[in-house]
Amino acid sequence: QPALKIALLGAGTVGSQVARILTEDAEMLAARVGARLELAGVFVRNPDGRRDYQLPRELYTTDAEALVDSADIVLELMGGIEPAKSLIERAIGNGSAVVTGNKALLAQSGSELFAAAAEAGTQLSFEASVAGAIPILRPLRDSLAGDTVTRVMGIANGTTNYILDQMDTTGAAFDDALADAQELGYAEADPTADIEGHDAAAKAAILANLAFHAPFRIDEVYCEGITRITAADNEAASEAGYVIKLLAIAERITAGDGTAGAVLRVHPTLLPREHPLAAVRGAFNAVFVETQNAGELMFYGPGAGGAPTASAVMGDTVSIARRLVRGGAGRTHTPRSVVPALPVGEARTSY
Ligand code: HSE
Repeated sequence: QPALKIALLGAGTVGSQVARILTEDAEMLAARVGARLELAGVFVRNPDGRRDYQLPRELYTTDAEALVDSADIVLELMGGIEPAKSLIERAIGNGSAVVTGNKALLAQSGSELFAAAAEAGTQLSFEASVAGAIPILRPLRDSLAGDTVTRVMGIANGTTNYILDQMDTTGAAFDDALADAQELGYAEADPTADIEGHDAAAKAAILANLAFHAPFRIDEVYCEGITRITAADNEAASEAGYVIKLLAIAERITAGDGTAGAVLRVHPTLLPREHPLAAVRGAFNAVFVETQNAGELMFYGPGAGGAPTASAVMGDTVSIARRLVRGGAGRTHTPRSVVPALPVGEARTSY
């Protein structure tokens, strides 16, 4: 069967799970795509390190550039700005498609990268960058494209929701709850990004981009984290019928002269206990969307962790791979192995 070459950059919590799915579900993925998704290699800093899912030693490489150059689809799951940015630019320059979960990078340099991808006629997909497994970006960008989104409010950081929930329901101390979240694989490598609200702020910028169809950057988001929340705050909130949640909010505003703008902010918020977002427990995420015509919608699910986030990465990967196989509109990249679509009916035999 023909194959598309996949380069995986990073084998941490999410990267390891992507490697597992590509390996264990190879047959199912091939049937859905019409071509094998062949893992060409995994870029890591230390090929001998222990990982959540161990691949054969020869698949690990420290030569990221050679790996990127060999791939039809590059999955960037290393996080951080550099070298992730340069490697994504290199892949786009090669005409390869890219899937990333890198919210910090997109919230800082998204418009630059999207413009480069558009110019190269290739795709940069990023469903995994906000709210892990929850399909929220495509609905905002596509399903609601004919509506006017007036406000998006998200519990978009699992670590802080976990901490606030533990403090609220069990009276746990902040540091113990944070240690648990790290243990469970929810926290960023440097958890400051979680507890100071920077991770949620990056996600607010990305959500606003899609909801309002205009570029927003992380430095346009007002940001306040949860480090100053105390047990006494929780008690007072609870007695008054509220719960404290860290929300990422993107709100459409209309100026006096009728021009539309947006306010973006992240801060601990008092939510009435009966609000749907108040029921979001543990490390779960939810995004509450208000629109002119659809009214109120809520998207809910696991927002962090290896397998759930890998699910979103794989969704993007399959969607791109199908397009490459079928030669969808807008494709200028010739896959390294040109693959014909399977004859009608053939794929069914292996389902
Ligand atoms: N640290 C992030 C969180 C991971 O806790 O939500 C998912 O983006």
